[in-house]
Amino acid sequence: MLKRKDLLGLIDLTAEEITELLDVAADMKRHLKAGDKHLPYLKGKTATILFYENSTRTRTSFELAAKYLGATVINIAASSSSVAKGETLVDTGKTLDAQLNDFLVMRHPMGGAPYLLAKVAKAGVLNAGDGMNEHPTQALLDMLTMRETFGKLDGLKVAIVGDIKHSRVAKSNLFGLKTMGAEVRMFAPETLIPKGIDKLGAKLCRSKEEALDGADVVMGLRIQLERQQAGNFPSLNEYAAIYGVDGKSLQYAKPNAIVMHPGPVNRGVELTGKVIDHEQSRIEEQVFSGIAVRMAALKLLNDYREYTK
Ligand code: NCD
Repeated sequence: MLKRKDLLGLIDLTAEEITELLDVAADMKRHLKAGDKHLPYLKGKTATILFYENSTRTRTSFELAAKYLGATVINIAASSSSVAKGETLVDTGKTLDAQLNDFLVMRHPMGGAPYLLAKVAKAGVLNAGDGMNEHPTQALLDMLTMRETFGKLDGLKVAIVGDIKHSRVAKSNLFGLKTMGAEVRMFAPETLIPKGIDKLGAKLCRSKEEALDGADVVMGLRIQLERQQAGNFPSLNEYAAIYGVDGKSLQYAKPNAIVMHPGPVNRGVELTGKVIDHEQSRIEEQVFSGIAVRMAALKLLNDYREYTK
């Protein structure tokens, strides 16, 4: 049983905990596929979704997940909250506690913000992406999608290509996949590789060919233009030519390799349109897995809250 108040990152989750989250998510996905969107494990509970950064799929995915579980859901965009009036995160947490929230789902541009909120709030906190740090439910949905395709994670070769430095998705995937026994390769311009990532278990590659050679999974990452200081790479066209994944580069990977991307995609930059729409692309399946994974996370955190009441 997942014995946690919060889900903040994959860095300290054990293989057993990840497996439990994925097993429950797989179960949720079966229900959703059968058209069953009424799974009231969170009936009578309240979840507030607090996003200090833009999002389409993650925010709606958490909202749908909480609603399918029967919770009352409130959405707060930072631009419309008291944060815009100068309230601190700690005071926001206390206010949301006073309103008897059971769960707070938070996205924040500063790494560590959900950790601070989790410390002060009685509610369970789910990290929906903190700065360049972690995005645990994204990596879980990626792992669920991989496990469904290959039946396992252990021994898979996963090539992550793109803006690793600014990517919380890359970091959470690295932590989760390593714990589950997969090999994680990374390929990016030197300027977009965070120092020390190899010490955390990533295999750094010098060419696209090396990264994709015999890979089971090819994961593109968005160039995060909003987080770039000028000068990390010469131009988007040049970036696309060297680091973009096209049909030709897929030939280095295994014939049954799948293509993934957390979205949103810069079409023609990280992946060509042809690769995005390729029959081995799992990009839409990832979005579907996302709802199931968030339902699983909310259910398991709620089970533990009930158990410790
Ligand atoms: C990612 C994010 O916000 O970290 N998107 C997502 O949640 N699906 C990746 C990105 O913004 O590029």
